[in-house]
Amino acid sequence: MKRIVVTAIIIATSATLAGAQPAKGPYEPGLGEFMTVIQLRHAKLWFAGKNNNWDLAAYEIDEIKEGLEDAARLHSTFDGVPVSEMIKTIIDPRIERLEKAIDGKSSSQFVAAFDELTDGCNSCHAGASKPFIRIQRPTVPPLTNQNFAPLK
Ligand code: HEC
Repeated sequence: MKRIVVTAIIIATSATLAGAQPAKGPYEPGLGEFMTVIQLRHAKLWFAGKNNNWDLAAYEIDEIKEGLEDAARLHSTFDGVPVSEMIKTIIDPRIERLEKAIDGKSSSQFVAAFDELTDGCNSCHAGASKPFIRIQRPTVPPLTNQNFAPLK
């Protein structure tokens, strides 16, 4: 008798749990999650450039570009903000300038273009009613387990 009751409870509980599970599609990160990864790469990009590690800088800017493309694809609008359009108009020209600076291995152009990109991040945040998300030049490397110096 006791065993039947326990079994019935287990079956009922499993059925409830199974019923509570919504059908899940592939995992889709929210815009804020894309942004957090982009933030990390923005910091790494700075230290790559400051160390004249142009290969790493080129890699990080590429990753930022891809991250923004994916964000724009999954969240072409966000709370009425035209994310995809804003990336195209605000960010793409600034990324192009950074790529030129990195290609030309120019520290001074890199610093100027990096600051312009950062201003672009902040313009978009202000335009998206998030003016309190302020990005700036990092002062210390975000992680200590990565070497930002170029290969000898
Ligand atoms: C298309 C406009 C747009 C651009 C361009 C943009 N952001 Fe964002 N960002 C947003 C929006 C909108 C949010 C708020 C997302 C939310 O509410 O989930 C955000 C949030 C963030 C956050 C907060 C994430 C968190 O959860 O703490 C960071 C950090 C961030 N962005 C960094 C950056 C950096 C760095 C760049 C530039 C390389 C950048 N963003 C460019 C629109 C933009």
